[in-house]
Amino acid sequence: MDTDTKIPQHIAIIMDGNGRWAEQHKVARAKGHEQGGATVQRVIDLCIEKGVPWLTLYAFSTENWGRSKIEVNYLMKMLEKFLKERLPEMQAKNVRLHAIGELDMLPPKCRRQLDTSIAETAGNTALNVVLALSYGSRQEITAAARRVAAMVQRGELQAEEITPDLLSSQLYTASMPDPDLMIRTSGEMRISNYLLWQLSYAELWVTDVLWPDFGRDDFDAALAEYAKRNRRYGKR
Ligand code: IPE
Ligand code: IPE
Ligand code: MG
Repeated sequence: MDTDTKIPQHIAIIMDGNGRWAEQHKVARAKGHEQGGATVQRVIDLCIEKGVPWLTLYAFSTENWGRSKIEVNYLMKMLEKFLKERLPEMQAKNVRLHAIGELDMLPPKCRRQLDTSIAETAGNTALNVVLALSYGSRQEITAAARRVAAMVQRGELQAEEITPDLLSSQLYTASMPDPDLMIRTSGEMRISNYLLWQLSYAELWVTDVLWPDFGRDDFDAALAEYAKRNRRYGKR
């Protein structure tokens, strides 16, 4: 099959390795995160170029709140700054921003900037960028189960009517397609509480390259590998 026709419609990325990059370069972890921010812009541009319509980026996990206060504060400041500074570019490039996660946990200034960026890009159509922020998949699924249980309790729904589609409709990702390809940088072979439900049939691709070093060649390699995969969905 023509590889061009096998462009993933949704790529989900675990952007890992900023700390190791900083260690390698003997600089502060903050510098690694800053370089990681530059990679985000690079990958957004690559998705637009290749015609990938959805990109979900794991930017901060529920568990990442457990890092030092200094690192958490730095990451939140960086996020706010990134959202503010990149907004004109998002507009110019026709990028629509979304966010998934426990957004109420974000510092108020950061949350306001996020809401502004989401609202102002709502009409854009070239690429959907979903930021997973304060995101944990088990928490997401638990919250969805609670909402479904409440519906049953109120008599709006019979237990037998609970289907995978119904549960999907209660996740943060309700209106989004499932990822076709999940990329993790920095070599760890794990999911780290990321999109457990949504990645059911995603193709996985892990590279040892650290996120700040992730570039065009790595992205191309992931797409080429994806194009070769035979997605069987349990069938023969
Ligand atoms: C990913 O890089 C960024 C976040 C999790 C916010 P890390 O900070 O996890 O980098 P390593 O894993 O320590 O190298
Ligand atoms: C996953 O990376 C979270 C993000 C990339 C935001 P971590 O560095 O937090 O994951 P673990 O600790 O290696 O599982
Ligand atoms: Mg890490």
